[in-house]
Amino acid sequence: MAISMGKGSVGVLTGVFIASLAVVVAVLLLRTYNLPELKVAWKGKGAPRIELEEDEREQLYEALKGALRIPTVSFSPSEQNTTALEEFKEYIKSAFPRVFNSSLVEYELVGGYSHLFNVQGSDNSLLPYMLLAHLDVVPATPEGWDLPPFSGEEKDGYIYGRGSLDDKSRVIGILQALEFLFKKGYKPRRSFYIGLGHDEEISGRHGAKEIVKTLETRNVKLEYLLDEGFGVLDGVIYGTKRPIALIGVTEKGAITLNLTVNSPPGHSSMPPRESSIGILSAALSRLEQNRLPNLFGTGPEGSTFEQLANEFYWPLNIMMANLWFFNPIISRLMALTPSGNAIVRTTTALTIVNGGIKANVIPATATATVNFRLHPAQTVEEVLNMVSEIIMDERVILSAIKAFDPLPISPYDEENFGYQTLKRTITDLFSVPVAPAVCTVNTDSRHFVNLTESVYRFSPVVMTAEDLGRVHGLNERISREGFETGIQFYWQLIQNSDSDTVPVHRHSEL
Ligand SMILES: *[C@@H]1O[C@H](CO)[C@@H](O)[C@H](O)[C@H]1NC(C)=O
Ligand SMILES: *[C@@H]1O[C@H](CO)[C@@H](O)[C@H](O)[C@H]1NC(C)=O
Ligand SMILES: *[C@@H]1O[C@H](CO)[C@@H](O)[C@H](O)[C@H]1NC(C)=O
Ligand SMILES: *[C@@H]1O[C@H](CO)[C@@H](O)[C@H](O)[C@H]1NC(C)=O
Ligand SMILES: [Zn+2]
Repeated sequence: MAISMGKGSVGVLTGVFIASLAVVVAVLLLRTYNLPELKVAWKGKGAPRIELEEDEREQLYEALKGALRIPTVSFSPSEQNTTALEEFKEYIKSAFPRVFNSSLVEYELVGGYSHLFNVQGSDNSLLPYMLLAHLDVVPATPEGWDLPPFSGEEKDGYIYGRGSLDDKSRVIGILQALEFLFKKGYKPRRSFYIGLGHDEEISGRHGAKEIVKTLETRNVKLEYLLDEGFGVLDGVIYGTKRPIALIGVTEKGAITLNLTVNSPPGHSSMPPRESSIGILSAALSRLEQNRLPNLFGTGPEGSTFEQLANEFYWPLNIMMANLWFFNPIISRLMALTPSGNAIVRTTTALTIVNGGIKANVIPATATATVNFRLHPAQTVEEVLNMVSEIIMDERVILSAIKAFDPLPISPYDEENFGYQTLKRTITDLFSVPVAPAVCTVNTDSRHFVNLTESVYRFSPVVMTAEDLGRVHGLNERISREGFETGIQFYWQLIQNSDSDTVPVHRHSEL
């Protein structure tokens, strides 16, 4: 009896289990195959493509090369090549005469070397937007480069130079597009600003921040703002079928934390049980061993994968379409690589350690610096609390040298003018799917959050994993076509932004 009842229960349980499994599988498949098709067709016509004459094409390559030859290097937080920054002012004036002599443009220098352009539209009822880029670059020495980093030379269809990706191709791309637009007699309907910062690589304190102050004194509000970002990623996201454009809708926050341990100094012949170096090392080790929590899916990174689910190969497509179910697996898989890990959590990086000067002296002080990059779902306060709990030693004095919260999440819904206008321009030009994403690095755009809720980060260039390594690395370069496509992008974006309605798309059949 007992046995047969047992058998019956097992049978019922198995039945229930199989039934629920069938339901789960059905839901997973339904969700996967009913995803909105990302290959969208837009209602109405977008801006036409630019038709370039051969001499205009040469002119645009020369404009970039000339900019790359001016070493606008930010050496350290307090040191920039101001000679080069001066030279850059004169350079853009001569390279883009129409931008500077147009009656539609108000131009001013800000913070000594940054540039602010206000391009006057004909319809004052439309809120202006802003294109932001930076003209400073990180240092580069010729060692390891195929062509010298400040030569603006070309090889195999690629223009080499520090800044060719980050960010002079955008500085020149924006100005060149506007120069061509004026040449063809274009008059914008919607006003816009162009901001070119001169110290992005060292915080934007004198450039972008001063531009913001200038605009704030004039009570300027923006419809949207576009700054540098990921671009069109080709073969970068594991398991995807084709290149994908990511628009940064937020940036991680950051904390630079100093750890200090003081202990009585003494001779190494009679060391104390615990030294300042030992106490500090133990604290650092605990920080590295105990990573902050995996928060995958609690920020916009969940939307990135959900919106792109169709773009993944089987079975990743089913998993991405059903993060509610597969989140525990995906989040663990992501954490396996440094780049994936940076997406799922607040990262902890031990960057500086100092202590001791003499082999036979116990130092009185040991210090270290740890850099955290905050996941969008966390705040500075929360992270600092977690860090003290992990260290659990009040002999370790913590002081945050620099700290800011993750940036607000910009809207990416169907009603948002800026996001949809960008998305439309990207799909028209690159024919790739577009999704929102979290930027793991910071840009000048973070200074603008009080001027608009719609801050986006996107660079109109196709980037492979190898290209990503060239940014701030060796042999930074851009292909001729890649650069021309960038100009095409701004040419179309500026015209698409003249609309007063949000672009609407209809999902097309495959
Ligand atoms: C600074 O830029 C000028 C050109 O504008 C260049 O001649 C000079 O070598 C640069 N200085 C350094 C230290 O790179
Ligand atoms: C502006 O510059 C362009 C190109 O050099 C020139 O053709 C045009 O005449 C100039 N316009 C004015 C108003 O100076
Ligand atoms: C923070 O610590 C680093 C060494 O890790 C030291 O060089 C720096 O001066 C410290 N900063 C402050 C503000 O104490
Ligand atoms: C934005 O405004 C708030 C409130 O006035 C201020 O505390 C904050 O510093 C501003 N942020 C920026 C980036 O200017
Ligand atoms: Zn940059």
